[in-house]
Amino acid sequence: MRDASASAVPSADLPAALLEWYDRHARVLPWRVAPEASRAGARPDPYRIWLSEVMLQQTTVAAVTAYFHRFTTRWPTVRALAKAEDADVMGEWAGLGYYARARNLLKCARAVVADHGGVFPETRAALLTLPGIGPYTASAIAAIAFGRPETVVDGNVERVMARLHDIHTPLPAAKPELTEAAAALTPQARPGDYAQAVMDLGATICTPRNPACGICPWRTPCAARANGTAANLPRKSPKKAQPVRLGIAYVVRRKDGAYLLERRPARGLLGGMLGWPGGAWSESAPEAAPPLEADWRLLDAEVRHTFTHFHLQLQIRYATVPEDTRPGTGEFLDPAAFRPSDLPTVMRKAFDLVAPALDSDMI
Ligand code: ADE
Repeated sequence: MRDASASAVPSADLPAALLEWYDRHARVLPWRVAPEASRAGARPDPYRIWLSEVMLQQTTVAAVTAYFHRFTTRWPTVRALAKAEDADVMGEWAGLGYYARARNLLKCARAVVADHGGVFPETRAALLTLPGIGPYTASAIAAIAFGRPETVVDGNVERVMARLHDIHTPLPAAKPELTEAAAALTPQARPGDYAQAVMDLGATICTPRNPACGICPWRTPCAARANGTAANLPRKSPKKAQPVRLGIAYVVRRKDGAYLLERRPARGLLGGMLGWPGGAWSESAPEAAPPLEADWRLLDAEVRHTFTHFHLQLQIRYATVPEDTRPGTGEFLDPAAFRPSDLPTVMRKAFDLVAPALDSDMI
């Protein structure tokens, strides 16, 4: 639904104006080829583009950068990543969230090596056949790494298109309309730089709040700016209130400093990640049995954590046990084998809350 009062946007030269802006203001990102080099024909490493685009889904550039450096230092090529141990990759991903991405990352690296000789395919259609590569990632890799004129649509691009055309249809219903608007602008020349330019525009100028319209390269054609509606776009259908689930985390430390941890089943929430024993989370009172007999104490603080579809409140029960304790479930990891940074954020929060209480037991 485009606002009838909006003037038609002249589409000629919009990409050119944006590319000119990008040439001067592109963000410097560790996986990116700078515009000057790109214009001279340089292409980025498809492995680094794939990895960064998977990391950037639902996650900010600021959060991704340190992870990207650690991954590419430890696994500089897709062949190196394909040979990695699952637990090492899950550990390095810990804290980034949406852990299915990490499981699919490994599957994809192994498929690229097994089925494509260790070389990423170049077309959107071929990329779409790989595990974990959906429409967004396939288009991004095809455009940015291989210079194909594919349309890349993420949340930034949706916001830019909704404002440029003053589209008032709420998300998610507006997605097809916004994708069509984005596709109509995708140029044949420099499509990779153009895709990155629209995303940079959304991240730095056409921001969700307080957009800097005065310095936007598209300020003249922007219909929402003309109509004074930019700050209210894109509209969003109201979200359902998310339920609260309750759970227990049993944190047990042996006298030698080893912690009892479990690896969660490969599928589902936090699949494949390390965590504290504690059973299922539910909307009624939590009732998971402890993993072993001990003098359990209840911590006087609980973890709160929000997942995509629910809020979690996690009670923490903790105990210190003798060195010869054998677990019924999970595995004691000694201090040399346990890095708190290998834990997903919710489990890390429990560790950070309970560690002082357990430390005082050791004195
Ligand atoms: N957000 C996700 N991918 C991006 C990219 N390649 N450039 C800028 N912002 C992004």
